[in-house]
Amino acid sequence: MGLEGGHALVTGAGTGIGRATARALARAGCDIAVHYRSHKAEAEALVQEISGMGRVSFAVAADLTSKKEIEHLAQEVGRHFPSLEVLVNNAGEYPRRTIEDLGDEEFMYTLITNLWAPYVVTKEFLPLIRKASAGRIIFVGSILALNGSTHGADYAASKAALGGLAKSLARELAPKITVNVVAPGSIDTAILADDTPEVRQQREKTIPAGRLGTAEDVAAAIAFLATPQASYLTGTTVHVNGGLRMD
Ligand SMILES: NC(=O)c1ccc[n+]([C@@H]2O[C@H](COP(=O)([O-])OP(=O)(O)OC[C@H]3O[C@@H](n4cnc5c(N)ncnc54)[C@H](OP(=O)(O)O)[C@@H]3O)[C@@H](O)[C@H]2O)c1
Repeated sequence: MGLEGGHALVTGAGTGIGRATARALARAGCDIAVHYRSHKAEAEALVQEISGMGRVSFAVAADLTSKKEIEHLAQEVGRHFPSLEVLVNNAGEYPRRTIEDLGDEEFMYTLITNLWAPYVVTKEFLPLIRKASAGRIIFVGSILALNGSTHGADYAASKAALGGLAKSLARELAPKITVNVVAPGSIDTAILADDTPEVRQQREKTIPAGRLGTAEDVAAAIAFLATPQASYLTGTTVHVNGGLRMD
């Protein structure tokens, strides 16, 4: 899809949507930096798989709640890649708690993971992205940024704030760099692994597409935003939710 010779970093690429995105970008022609935190074996297996496609790939571990570790990630990626055409800020956490169960520190931790970390990662990588002839920054948001959540006020707030961050950066970094959000609905990854069969069935009933989304459904939208054909899309949110919410 026209990404030959490009270099991409996908955060949280050991699992779920990140993993599927790394694969999709590699298939489109990108070399891939695979970031992970705890899923080392999965990240290394992905590197092998992508290398088998004839792309350069390597894995770097970092806890993105640590600025030092983000700086280390930037150094490692900069050592391998001369420029960064695509940055996918995918890593995030959805700890489910009602407002009564949500502690102040836990609230801050969610903001740090889902908002501060993508901001710092973007800032750290900006010099490398500016070396590309065209840059693509993609944040993974959530349908809950718009719908809210009965057990994730911290999560919904963090994902909603990503929209403001993305729009601001889209203005600031235009026209060479586009900045967008991809907002998944209910996607069948580890994040939904605690659902009982009843909850899962209930979810499926409310989705016009009649099924949960797959990591590949989301990866396809991210990969499209990364292409030269998407150069006129910036500061927007692409919803991947099977019609669960229509904006
Ligand atoms: N699945 C859904 O229904 C859904 C819906 C809306 C939005 N999303 C968003 O989609 C993104 C990917 O989630 P997923 O569904 O693919 O679930 P997932 O498989 O649990 O992926 C989350 C990834 O984020 C990484 N991560 C979390 N905290 C981190 C930290 N502090 N430092 C570094 N990495 C960290 C994890 O790394 P390790 O596992 O290696 O520790 C993991 O690879 C998230 O931003 C999530 O909020 C998902």
